Amino acid sequence: LISLQTDGSSRMNISILTVFPALYEQFLETSLLKKATGAGIVDFNLYRFADCVPPKKRIDEPACGPGAGMVIRPEVVEAAVDVAEKKSGRAFKIFFSPHGTKLDQKKMRSIVKKISEQNKTHLMLVAARYEGMDLRVEDEYADEIISIGDYVLMGGDLPAMVFLEAFLRLVPGVVGDQESVVEDSFTGPFVDYPNYCLPVQWHDRTIPEILRSGDHKKINVWRTEQAVKRTLASHFDWLRHSPVTSDQKALVRSFIPPHYVVLMHDQVMTGPEKIVGTTSVTSLDIHDIARSAATYGIKKYFLVTPLLDQQKIVAQFLEFWHEGGGVTYNESRHVAIKEVVVKASLELTIAAIFEAEGKMPLVIATSAQKSPRDNCITFHDQGVVWSHDRPVLLVLGTGRGLTDALLAKVDFVLVPVEGCTDYNHLSVRSAAAIIFDRWLGLNPQ
Ligand SMILES: C[S@@+](CC[C@H](N)C(=O)[O-])C[C@H]1O[C@@H](n2cnc3c(N)ncnc32)[C@H](O)[C@@H]1O
Repeated sequence: LISLQTDGSSRMNISILTVFPALYEQFLETSLLKKATGAGIVDFNLYRFADCVPPKKRIDEPACGPGAGMVIRPEVVEAAVDVAEKKSGRAFKIFFSPHGTKLDQKKMRSIVKKISEQNKTHLMLVAARYEGMDLRVEDEYADEIISIGDYVLMGGDLPAMVFLEAFLRLVPGVVGDQESVVEDSFTGPFVDYPNYCLPVQWHDRTIPEILRSGDHKKINVWRTEQAVKRTLASHFDWLRHSPVTSDQKALVRSFIPPHYVVLMHDQVMTGPEKIVGTTSVTSLDIHDIARSAATYGIKKYFLVTPLLDQQKIVAQFLEFWHEGGGVTYNESRHVAIKEVVVKASLELTIAAIFEAEGKMPLVIATSAQKSPRDNCITFHDQGVVWSHDRPVLLVLGTGRGLTDALLAKVDFVLVPVEGCTDYNHLSVRSAAAIIFDRWLGLNPQ
């Protein structure tokens, strides 16, 4: 936890500037917020915009330009800010708007840190209504502009309350049991583990045996595993945007279903007429995709070619890197290429995975065009795929891409890799690297 009060004495004054102060009255009188006020940790002051302007003066004006909507006047916000700062000193000011920075636990912690570094003991939350505020007040006053999600509410009051609850959990003394805050979801890269309470049996559901074992060490291991599993199922984006240690990476890897990749030199379209046929292997593809596959924890990289002379060429190449001079010539290259296997068909590739894993893989094809079928998945659908608890085989095409017949047989087709242009003719090596990264990559903030 970050300490807000650097001198350990002064309380946090929280001013809320709003059109509707009545919305907060019960909220501030409830549970931990009331306790925090009672304990002298925080003090709340509500300011109604209408009370900060002369009687009968409107607080809003029609938005300039075409279109409907009323906007809160800048002088009104100015007057309310002045009144609140006169009473409680210079404030750290937070405005709420859908266009602001999305609030999450990292953002929350960074705000708490800023307030503490600036030695501020006055926090001001400014809640708009109607079409929002005149932009100039945000430019003039806001230390932070916060959105609580990509949806539009009627006003900034619920965002202010959401912010307050998240903020106050991080203020020492507000939540009685600090341990529960330290173990909260999003404190690290994972969500919280599941909790149960008595009775042991409810409907046909029983508390997991392990929690009743009394073996704290085992319970902690189980809880960590559950937290990782839940994170992978529904919060992979949080995990991939969080810093993770090497041990955490290994733990995560052990719960992601095994991934394989196959590069098809068969069942592909070739030439300008897109004739179904075969293509030649290239050493560049083998090197580069093997290195990408190793980076993203892909267990094996299969090359499919039905042509015997091509298989022979690959076998020679692999011999050098698996057990020949390549092992000592470039060890890290050996580490990547030792997972490359050549097969005569996709069916034999799938059979090899079945033999290794005891389960048939889910087959995900890739294509530069959007699939017209309804088996299309996006780079946000890992949870859907991983919930099947089956190995995953990513299929990459060469030549002009995988044939329609093959695309019709697979479980899923990934959306094409795209940038902000209409061009996406990537080499398979580049496409592979981007696909692996979008599907499995970590990108910590
Ligand atoms: C009706 S909204 C204005 C919506 C505005 N026309 C837009 O599309 O961005 C009025 C006010 O509610 C608050 N608000 C609405 N949705 C919000 C969100 N997701 N996060 C933070 N504040 C929000 C803001 O204070 C906003 O100025």
